[in-house]
Amino acid sequence: MKVIIIGATSAIAHETAKCFAKHSAELFLVGRDDAKVTVVANDLKVRGAKRVATFVLDLSELDRHQQMFDSAVATLHSIDMLLIAYGTLGNQRLCEQSVAETLQQFTNNCTSVISLLTISANYFEQQRHGCIAVISSAAGDRGRQSNYIYGTSKAAVSTFLQGLRNRLYKAGVSVVTIKPGFVDTPMTVHLKKGPLFASARSVGEGVYHAMKQGSDIVYLPWFWRPIMIVVRSLPESIFKRLSL
Ligand SMILES: NC(=O)c1ccc[n+]([C@@H]2O[C@H](COP(=O)([O-])OP(=O)(O)OC[C@H]3O[C@@H](n4cnc5c(N)ncnc54)[C@H](OP(=O)(O)O)[C@@H]3O)[C@@H](O)[C@H]2O)c1
Repeated sequence: MKVIIIGATSAIAHETAKCFAKHSAELFLVGRDDAKVTVVANDLKVRGAKRVATFVLDLSELDRHQQMFDSAVATLHSIDMLLIAYGTLGNQRLCEQSVAETLQQFTNNCTSVISLLTISANYFEQQRHGCIAVISSAAGDRGRQSNYIYGTSKAAVSTFLQGLRNRLYKAGVSVVTIKPGFVDTPMTVHLKKGPLFASARSVGEGVYHAMKQGSDIVYLPWFWRPIMIVVRSLPESIFKRLSL
């Protein structure tokens, strides 16, 4: 199994990568911090990965995406699976005061993901097999005042993936949308933890199983699916009055 993991230093992605390593996968890890990527790569080698290659890239540098993808293909020779796992929660209040910050967050969480998906979709469509998975978020299911810049980015990514899944179905390529709820990772370190928080390990393992099964849309943990059905069904006349 040959797998590219983009955003490999993410706590969730690292847990998913451990599952691949356990099954002797060949991994191509992409992250922006050389030292962190090296730590993850060394860990995965010890855990059984057949081979681990790394590529250091700040993924907001869109004009280097093609170079990174070409390097992955040249290194692995073929690609069975791709996971896009990076993202930033951003500061909603700061975004409300700054167009530049809003657009920067949107580029990091959405435009750059769409760039990578456009490049990789053409590769997988020609290859006629494989799996593309992206960690989106349950936060994209409905806009809330506390994080609608982040939520908008994830909603756009989820809709893009829906179209891509429909396009690539005929080519035998699965497109997996992962929608976690709250996960205890560095991204949420500042948030007060409650019973709805899941561990990075359980979510990372869920991502692995969803990719192996070629699922369509997966909520992690599962209970976010019924929660979001309720959240989406609330009429706007009520929802707009809530402090969410
Ligand atoms: N944690 C949650 O509650 C939650 C819920 C729903 C969805 N998600 C999504 O899950 C995914 C993984 O997040 P996580 O929870 O595992 O948090 P995390 O451990 O903080 O991981 C986020 C990762 O994104 C990387 N990153 C951000 N911007 C980047 C850029 N421009 N170029 C390269 N790498 C970049 C970070 O790199 P550095 O380590 O170098 O900073 C970090 O490895 C994200 O897409 C997130 O939106 C998380």
